[in-house]
Amino acid sequence: MKILVLGSGAGGGFPQWNCNCRLCAGQRAGRIRASPRTQSSIAVSADGERWLLLNASPDLGAQLRASPALWPRHGLRHSPIEAVVLMDSQIDHVTGLLSLREGSTLQLYCTPETHEDLSSSLPLLKALQNYCGVSWHAMPLAPHGDAWHEVAGLRMRALPVPGKAPPYSPRRQAAAAGYNAAVQIEDPASGRRLLYAPGMAQVGDAERGYLDACDCVLIDGTFWTEDEMVAAGLGRKLAADMGHLPQCDGPRGPGMLRALDGCAARRKVLIHINNSNPILDEDGPQRAELARRGIEVAFDGMELEV
Ligand code: MLT
Ligand code: MN
Ligand code: ZN
Repeated sequence: MKILVLGSGAGGGFPQWNCNCRLCAGQRAGRIRASPRTQSSIAVSADGERWLLLNASPDLGAQLRASPALWPRHGLRHSPIEAVVLMDSQIDHVTGLLSLREGSTLQLYCTPETHEDLSSSLPLLKALQNYCGVSWHAMPLAPHGDAWHEVAGLRMRALPVPGKAPPYSPRRQAAAAGYNAAVQIEDPASGRRLLYAPGMAQVGDAERGYLDACDCVLIDGTFWTEDEMVAAGLGRKLAADMGHLPQCDGPRGPGMLRALDGCAARRKVLIHINNSNPILDEDGPQRAELARRGIEVAFDGMELEV
């Protein structure tokens, strides 16, 4: 199975257009060694011909232009992207759908909750009915179902993970689980599995099981510490308020590093990295700490073979 990282940043990307923090300003001025990052999205394929797009970032147009594997191949109009899978209805994960409007009917896989948000509060799907049209394939989350779907020569299923609905959603404050998905993808030929989870607020027993069942995990790398945005003077929200588990241990308990320490996956890769996260600085001590633990940091254009 081939995995292509189209974008590795969180909402806003890196450097963020209106941000003058140490990292954003340092990157612009060349004071630190750090690559710019577009907003997170990956493409996955069994054979390099037929691809699944996981999340559609606002940077999708530029990401596709930069990725020859996803250029048209057959006839006058064509795309190797057979379907789009959404983890949630976050703006940084869905607004790229609008950039696919010139194509044929969009084959869209997402939960009923995400479909509802994108049909009401942020009605992208309604708008797209007037362009390419949308064929929705519902992926209900457990306990309502965690069926495997077969698409583009791969098997995939959505798993419920702790997280937050977007600020615009009526479900934002809901305590109930089930609005935030991680996706497991399996190559039926090799049995190899990938877990994609750009938003995960906690790693409990169930989540640990999902991680251990995969050969490669691309997982929430948003924040290094719980109060990173507050400490840098960038905002008032904690990682928990935004539905992300920071890498370091904090007031809520063990962080992502500890969760990944015990994980059986061969490749452990952080993705959806916020512009405030010091792991963006390739020469920083945080980056050295990740290397010691065998944890990788996704970058735009990264290719993985699982
Ligand atoms: C998040 O995951 O919380 C986002 O990146 C926020 C955003 O869309 O700006
Ligand atoms: Mn996000
Ligand atoms: Zn910044």
